[in-house]
Amino acid sequence: MPSKNMTLFYSPASPFARKVLVLLHETGQLPTVELFDVQLSPVSPSGEVIARNPAGKIPALELANGDTLHDSRVILDYLDHQHSGEPLIPRDGANRWKRLSLASLADAVLDAAILIRYETFLRPEDLHWPTWLNAQQDKIERVLAELETQADTGQLQCFDIASISIACALGYLDFRQPQLDWRNRFPRLASWYAEASQRGSMLDSQPPA
Ligand code: BEZ
Repeated sequence: MPSKNMTLFYSPASPFARKVLVLLHETGQLPTVELFDVQLSPVSPSGEVIARNPAGKIPALELANGDTLHDSRVILDYLDHQHSGEPLIPRDGANRWKRLSLASLADAVLDAAILIRYETFLRPEDLHWPTWLNAQQDKIERVLAELETQADTGQLQCFDIASISIACALGYLDFRQPQLDWRNRFPRLASWYAEASQRGSMLDSQPPA
């Protein structure tokens, strides 16, 4: 049994933390990481996290030497260098930039969906700004349309950094926007996700019910 030599500060609801959990699972590194569940929001940060990352954001990964890595992209890159299997982030060549750009599109869905969550859940109702909310939702739709093309052209066959990020983005939409009904508009993406969401790494990291 490998010893736990790192600590991941995370929340089970955070899709950015979920990407890290999925990569840890896919690369067999989950047993090496202690999971530290933190309660936080932008208006009630966690002292435990701030002590390690002044931005107060999760995920944050504390290493054995006391250094802390953040954000999720940095942590994913680090962890992908700590296993001996096939890299999930291509090390070089055109494919590296292609897959990282696709992962970045998925992160853009997350950024927009989380901004919508904060606006609708944290911000007082009389201060909600519909124009801004609609702009975030439009961004999500544009990216999903592109991901539909990617699914249709076989670009999501390999479960690497791009596919992990897309799967976690779709999982977060189902979690926080269950009414969105994206599957009807993006059937190929839906069919890809039906399979991807059944991987052990995805099932084991599902957000709370
Ligand atoms: C959420 O509850 O939606 C959430 C929690 C942590 C980070 C981001 C989102």
